[in-house]
Amino acid sequence: MVDFGAQYSQLIARRIRECRVFSALLPHDVDPERIAELEPAGIVLSGGPASVWDEGAPELNPALLDLGVPVLGICYGMQAMTTSLGGEVAKTGAGEFGSTALEVTARGRLLAELPAETCWMSHRDSVVRAPQGFEVTATTAESPVAAMEDRVRGFYAVQFHPEVKHTPFGTDLLKSFLFDACDAAPTWTPAAVIDDQVARIRAQVGDGHAICGLSGGVDSAVAALLVHRAIGDRLTCVFVDHGLMRMNEGEQVEAAFGKHFGVPLIHVRAKDRFLAKLAGVEEPERKRKIIGEEFIRIFEEEGAKLGDVPFLVQGTLYSDVIESGGRDSATIKSHHNVGGLPEDMAVELVEPLRGLFKDEVRAVGEELGLPERMVWRQPFPGPGLAIRIIGEVTEERLEVLRQADFVLLEEIRRAGLYRDLWQSFAVLPAVRSVGVQGDERTYAYPIVIRAVTSDDAMTADWARLPHELLQAISSRIINEVQGVNRVVLDITSKPPGTIEWE
Ligand code: XMP
Repeated sequence: MVDFGAQYSQLIARRIRECRVFSALLPHDVDPERIAELEPAGIVLSGGPASVWDEGAPELNPALLDLGVPVLGICYGMQAMTTSLGGEVAKTGAGEFGSTALEVTARGRLLAELPAETCWMSHRDSVVRAPQGFEVTATTAESPVAAMEDRVRGFYAVQFHPEVKHTPFGTDLLKSFLFDACDAAPTWTPAAVIDDQVARIRAQVGDGHAICGLSGGVDSAVAALLVHRAIGDRLTCVFVDHGLMRMNEGEQVEAAFGKHFGVPLIHVRAKDRFLAKLAGVEEPERKRKIIGEEFIRIFEEEGAKLGDVPFLVQGTLYSDVIESGGRDSATIKSHHNVGGLPEDMAVELVEPLRGLFKDEVRAVGEELGLPERMVWRQPFPGPGLAIRIIGEVTEERLEVLRQADFVLLEEIRRAGLYRDLWQSFAVLPAVRSVGVQGDERTYAYPIVIRAVTSDDAMTADWARLPHELLQAISSRIINEVQGVNRVVLDITSKPPGTIEWE
C-alpha cells in the first residue's frame, strides 16, 4: 500500500489483511527499490487529501508502475496514476460525496461478477479521460471515468472507495484485485502470524532473557504469550497491581498467565505504596505522574532482582508505528509502552505486534487460547480507577467505584452490548448529595455512567443505551453499592469532553 495520506489508508490495509493477504503501508515517496525487495504481489495506491493540480501535490513515482506487478489506484491514487500515464484529471467543479449511483459500462476484471450499483465517493477532481490502453468500466453522474482497467499492463483504478462498508461490493472488488489480478494466496492467518513471530523472536532473543509488563489488557497479554511460546521460561512477566484495578482483575491475570499458560509471573501487590503516594492529591496530572513514576520504580526493582535481563517485551501496535511516521520505536508515544519506561534503561525492545492491527492482535490472542474476557476487553487506562475518582483517591472511594463499575459492566454484558461499545465504565465524583432511602435521609456519592462508541478514541460519541438498561444499572447500583444514592448519565461526546473524566 502506497500511502498518499488518506484518512482511509489504514482501513484499506486492514481490509486487504481481512482477505488474508499481508499488506504493509509505506509513504508515497518510498524508494521503489525498497518495495521491489518486499516482492509484493501487487501495489495499491491510496487516496489522499491533495489535488493533482496543487503545487507540491504528492506525485506517483513512475518507477512503481514498472515493477511488473498489478497496481490498483483508489481515488487520489487513481488520479495520480492517470496523470502519470498521460490521461486527464480535471477540476470539473462538481465533486461527489457519500453514497453515489454507479453504472457499470463494461464488466472488466474487477467488476466482473459484482452487483455494483452504489458506491461511496469522496472527491472533488475527476478523471475525464483515461490514459491510453485503459477501458472505462464504470461511470457515475459526475465521473465519466469512475473505474478503469488496463488488463494488459495490469493497471486498475477506481474513483470510489472499496474499503468503506458503504460500498457494498467493496471487499469483493478488493478480492478480485488480490486473487484474480495479482494471483495472491490467502495465507495471512493468525496461525501463520504466530509461526512467523515465534521464529523472529527466537532469532532476536537467542538464549537471552526477557521481561514483560502485563497491564491486563489484550496487547501486552498477546505480546507476552507470543514471546513465551518462543523462549519459554526465559520470559518473566511482571504484573503490578497498584490497587487501582477493577474487580478481580489481578486474579484474572494470575489465573490466565500463571495457572493456565504457566508463564513465570511476578504479581506485585503494591496497593499501599500507591495509595500512600496518592494521599491528599486531587490534581489529575499529579495523580498520573505519581502513578507513572511509582510504576516504573517497581518495574525496575523487579527487573533488578532477576539479574541481567537484556530484552523488554512491549505491545506496540502497527497503528502506533504508522502514526509515528513508520520510523523506529524510539519515536513512539510513551503512553503506549509499559508506563513510559525511561530511555536510559539498558534493554533491547522485543515488539512482536509491531506489524499488527488491533483486530489482528485479537485474532492471534484467540488462536493462542487467551480467554475471551481478555481478548475482548475494553481499553482501560494505565492510571486505572485513580482517574475515575474525581478528587482524592481513598480506599473507601475505590471500593465504592469498583463495585459500581462491576455492576455496570455486568449489566452491559447481559444486554449484549459490551463489544459494541468502545468503553463503558463508572466514574465517582467525590461530592455528595442528599437522598432518601427507606424513610431515612442519605448523604452519599453519585455514580456517573460513561459509555461511548468510537473507532480510535480520537473522537467518540456517547452511547444511546436503552432506557431499560439504564434503569437496571441505576437501581442495581443504588441497591447493591453502599455509599451511593444517585446515578447520572454522561451525555457528552469527544470533543468537547474527553472519554475519561481526568
Ligand atoms: P481520553 O480521556 O483522552 O482517552 O479521551 C482516550 C483513550 O485513552 C485512554 N487513556 C489512557 N490509556 N494510559 C493509558 O494506557 C493513560 O494514562 C490513559 N489516559 C486515557 C482512555 O481510556 C481512552 O480509551
